[in-house]
Amino acid sequence: MRAVTEVQDGMVVGLGTGSTATFAVEALAKRVSQGLRIVTVPTSERTRALAQKLGVPLAPVGDWPAIDLVIDGADQVERGSLVLIKGLGGALLREKIVASSGKRMIVVVDESKIVDRLGGQTPLPVEIVAFGWQGTIERLETLGVQPKLRVTDDRPFVSDGGNHIADCHLAEIADARDLEAKLSRIVGVIETGLFVGLASMVVVGGSTGIEVMKR
Ligand code: A5P
Repeated sequence: MRAVTEVQDGMVVGLGTGSTATFAVEALAKRVSQGLRIVTVPTSERTRALAQKLGVPLAPVGDWPAIDLVIDGADQVERGSLVLIKGLGGALLREKIVASSGKRMIVVVDESKIVDRLGGQTPLPVEIVAFGWQGTIERLETLGVQPKLRVTDDRPFVSDGGNHIADCHLAEIADARDLEAKLSRIVGVIETGLFVGLASMVVVGGSTGIEVMKR
C-alpha cells in the first residue's frame, strides 16, 4: 500500500478507521513483523483491537508522543482543497483529534470518493452529545442542514465516546470552513466530520492506477 511506504522506523503513526484503514493496519503489521519499529495511535476501539491482534505496538491512551503521520480513509474528498467528509464509520471525533495532532495526514480512497463539491449523496456526520440530543437536532435544523439522528438496530448509534451522530444532508457544501464554524457554535455539537486543512496527501486508487493529490 502506497501510504504505508511512507512509514519509517521510529515513527508514531495514527491509525484511521474503516475498511481502507484496515488494509493499512494489515500492511503495517506485515512491516512490523519484518522489523519496523513504530508506535501507533488508533482512532477507534475497532482499530485498536485489530492492531492489538496483529501485534502492532500501541501508544498509551491519551498520552502519546507527537504523531508523525496519520493514515486514514475518507467518505468524500474535495478535489483541489483536499477538504474531507469523514465519519460514516462513526469514528470522526477520535479521527479528528488524531489528525489534528499529526504532522502529516495521508488519506487513501478510491476514485468514487473524489468530488468537485462536497455534499450531495454523502451526508455530513456531526457528533452530538447524547444528553438532550433532540434539542441539538432542532438547533441544527435551524441551520437548514437537514439533520437526521443516526440509528442502528432501532437505537441511536453510540460512538466510542458515548455520543450520538446527526447525519446532515446538504446538496452541496460551498464553504466548508464557514459551515464548520456555524455547526461548532450549536450547543450540543461536539465535532463535525468536515476535515479542513488536515489532509496533506490523498492517494486515489482508480481503474487506471494510483493518483497522488497534494495540497
Ligand atoms: C470512519 O469514521 C470514517 O471516517 C472512515 O474513515 C470513512 O468512513 C472511510 O471508510 P472506508 O475506508 O471503509 O470507506
